[in-house]
Amino acid sequence: MKHIFKEGTNKQAPVLLLLHGTGGDENDLLPLAEMIAPESSVLSVRGNVSEGGMPRFFRRLAEGVFDEEDLVKRTEELAGFLDKSAEDYGFDRSQIVAVGYSNGANIAASLLYHYEDVLKGAILHHPMVPLRNVTLPPLKELPIFIGAGKQDPICRPEETNELASTLEAGGSNVELFWENAGHQLTKNEIEAASEWFRNNF
Ligand code: MLT
Repeated sequence: MKHIFKEGTNKQAPVLLLLHGTGGDENDLLPLAEMIAPESSVLSVRGNVSEGGMPRFFRRLAEGVFDEEDLVKRTEELAGFLDKSAEDYGFDRSQIVAVGYSNGANIAASLLYHYEDVLKGAILHHPMVPLRNVTLPPLKELPIFIGAGKQDPICRPEETNELASTLEAGGSNVELFWENAGHQLTKNEIEAASEWFRNNF
């Protein structure tokens, strides 16, 4: 997968896995990593799917309707890429914290829905429920921050609450942050995610 790896100044700090939104790329969330964990190594990945030239992490059939077969396949591909990157760059595989926005948050949630011990934690900005009717692996108190907009027309509040409940039922510790805004990522939300990160890692 196309990506950027930046070695951090603190090798003990979690490695941030950055996952962009639809139409973004591996450069988009680099400033976010600087704000959340300036000393961390960063692995920023570009989604392998193109929707009319816009990079994504998995195909969709329509706005908000996911191609589940492709989602499962791409989730497996990303999990394998994380294993390989840890070997190639010599970082600790068990120390990855994902930071995803929108489509990137959805594939991060899908990693958690499918694989045990795949992440050490996750910051999900404006995620949706990746898929339904699956049994989650044990999440073992995994810390998760979810940032959501009360007026988000894409990731609607009911869906945010459903995702948070499902992840909690799977055993994770979810902090839900509500912003009085839509789908966009606000400074307020990034600051809340940064504070959550400092409190948890
Ligand atoms: C998705 O397709 O993953 C969500 O609808 C969010 C987005 O527009 O990327």
